[in-house]
Order: sequence, then structure tokens, then C-alpha cells
Amino acid sequence: SSVLSGVQERTLVALKPDGVQRRLVGDVIKRFEQRGFKLVGMKLLQASEVILAEHYHDLRRKPFYSSLIRYMASGPVVVMVWEGHNVVRSSRLMVGDTDSAQAKPGTVRGDFSVHISRNVIHASDSVEVAEREIGLWFHVSELVSWDNADQSNLYQ
Ligand code: PPS
Repeated sequence: SSVLSGVQERTLVALKPDGVQRRLVGDVIKRFEQRGFKLVGMKLLQASEVILAEHYHDLRRKPFYSSLIRYMASGPVVVMVWEGHNVVRSSRLMVGDTDSAQAKPGTVRGDFSVHISRNVIHASDSVEVAEREIGLWFHVSELVSWDNADQSNLYQ
């Protein structure tokens, strides 16, 4: 069978508080759906300092660390798990460069952000990191594997 069958790669995508407050949730979901990726987990929540400290553990010595945590706790985030062929790499391209000024038009950051400290969205940067981040933000029971098996759900 094809490379598209079997176990699919997953990644964590999160709309940061500025993304939620600017009503960009729908736009981001639309981009990932139209690319053909499959949504297998999603929730809106107020992130705790504990989960944010774990999520950004590797950045704990950076000068921007405390402002990053404050920003990420400043309102709800929408965390999503997307599945599909090479979804980690493709998501990073769709999200755009971390530095908003370097992010190309057509990417989420290139379309909606002007500064790295309010860059709207997060996406895991490797398959290993994605597995760790998905485990941090989601309980196994919150992830749903599904397919189009029941054709009666399609109206065409
Ligand atoms: S680094 O220094 O190379 O580790 O940083 P980088 O990989 O580019 O970014 C890691 C995450 O830190 C965020 N970041 C910042 N936030 C606020 N202010 C400043 N100056 C800043 N610089 C980097 C950046 O958005 C990355 O967060 P995520 O959530 O992964 O996008």
C-alpha cells in the first residue's frame, strides 16, 4: 500500500493568547484542514505556569523566558494535534519563521505577526519534540483516531 497508509506522524500546534484574542483560531484550522491534515485532538484552556514551565523547559535560561511565560499565560490558548504525512515539517513551513520579520507572506506569522514576542502560534520543531509536547498537553483519551469509513457522513 501507499506511504499514506499506516501510522501517521503527529504534531502539536498551539494558538497563543494573541492568536485567540485576535480571532485567528478559525483561520489556522482552515489552513491545516485545506492542506489535508487530520485533526485528532483540540481544546481551549488557560495554561498553568506548571505546564508552560515544562513546555518551555529548554528555554529556562533565555533572557526572554519570564516574559514568554507571562505572555503564554495572559489568556487562553488553543492546543491541537494534527496528523499526516510529514506534518511536523509542513506545519513549521505553514507557521513561518520564529522571527516575524523573517516570516514569509502566506505563512501564519508572515500574515499576522510583526514581532517575535507576539508570534501567534506554536508548532513542534521535530518528531521527537512533538511526541513529548503532545504527551504534555493531552491525555491519551483526548486523542481520537478516525477515518472516513462511514460514507453516509459525506453529503456529496
Ligand atoms: S532559541 O533562542 O533559538 O532557542 O529560540 P527559538 O528557537 O527561536 O525560539 C524558541 C521559542 O521562544 C520564543 N521566543 C521568544 N519569545 C518572546 N520573546 C523573544 N524575544 C523570543 N525569542 C524567541 C519563540 O517564539 C519560540 O517559541 P515557540 O512557542 O516555540 O514558537
